[in-house]
Amino acid sequence: MERTHLPESNWQTRPARILRTRQMTEHEKLFEISLGGGRTLDYEPGQFVMISLFGVGEIPISIASSPTHRTSFEICVRAVGKVTRALHRLEAGDELGIRGPYGHGFPIRILEGNDLLIIAGGLGIAPLRSLIRYVLDNRRDFGHTHILLGCRTPGDILFADEIDGWRKRMDVHWECTVDRAAPEWTGQVGRITTLIPGVDMEAERTFAVVVGPPVMYKFVIRELLAKNIPEHQILLSLERHMKCGMGKCGRCQIHNFYCCQEGPVFNYSDVKWMPEAF
Ligand SMILES: Cc1cc2nc3c(=O)[nH]c(=O)nc-3n(C[C@H](O)[C@H](O)[C@H](O)COP(=O)(O)OP(=O)(O)OC[C@H]3O[C@@H](n4cnc5c(N)ncnc54)[C@H](O)[C@@H]3O)c2cc1C
Ligand code: FES
Repeated sequence: MERTHLPESNWQTRPARILRTRQMTEHEKLFEISLGGGRTLDYEPGQFVMISLFGVGEIPISIASSPTHRTSFEICVRAVGKVTRALHRLEAGDELGIRGPYGHGFPIRILEGNDLLIIAGGLGIAPLRSLIRYVLDNRRDFGHTHILLGCRTPGDILFADEIDGWRKRMDVHWECTVDRAAPEWTGQVGRITTLIPGVDMEAERTFAVVVGPPVMYKFVIRELLAKNIPEHQILLSLERHMKCGMGKCGRCQIHNFYCCQEGPVFNYSDVKWMPEAF
């Protein structure tokens, strides 16, 4: 198994400051963060950082902003437990610790020149927003781009204001569906898989990029294969519980892969033979 060399900055916890926060939904909050000393975070879309709250704990969180804007970066956090709830109590001006970035992100150089089918389930939009913003900032380097988003209810849709902007663009095809509609909802209702058959694409030049809850993958992959997307052109970000983030503790191991290092983004063709991956 290939081991990535970690520069010193990647295992040191560095001080960082919250510049801005925004409550996105009842459970998710967006944080804009900058490193101290005028330093910038050097990352790729799809990578994650370890967020450290002194005396509380440390957790992996995906970077939700694009490296095309370098002075600060953003994370979108769902409050589920001890560390995430403590993080939600922080506001602009508060300090935290950052390790990373870690992992392999989306392979930008391979995606360039190809068409994209980006599929986000719920909070999966957080790492995919980093990719989407990168693609929009470098629009000429990518072909047709379809973005599909599935959420439980309209109230769970993240980045709704930005999505409105994407919807108005002529160079992006955008669709959204919810599992359960609200009275004012006029959009699609149904699982995200119901959107895939209707996408007009050339399978051989399309890369599908999928991030969402574990239950989504099996059904989405089935639809993508039915559209004849080659297996090595299906990219999945797999989430596992992580502690070290750098291949030391084994917490995130799937078969012979360390999800924190070899992933979190994998080719379907590399992981399809591992039943425990999905
Ligand atoms: C690579 C990676 C990227 C992530 N990106 C984001 C992100 O952008 N935004 C975000 O809100 N969350 C993200 N997560 C999940 C986040 O790390 C967990 O929600 C967090 O660790 C929970 O910590 P806690 O102390 O608040 O909760 P705990 O008290 O530790 O746990 C509360 C609940 O969350 C579950 N949980 C804990 N850790 C994980 C985990 N790693 N994956 C899935 N469920 C977990 C527990 O099983 C439990 O049900 C990511 C996880 C990984 C591995
Ligand atoms: S989180 Fe420790 S090996 Fe991956």
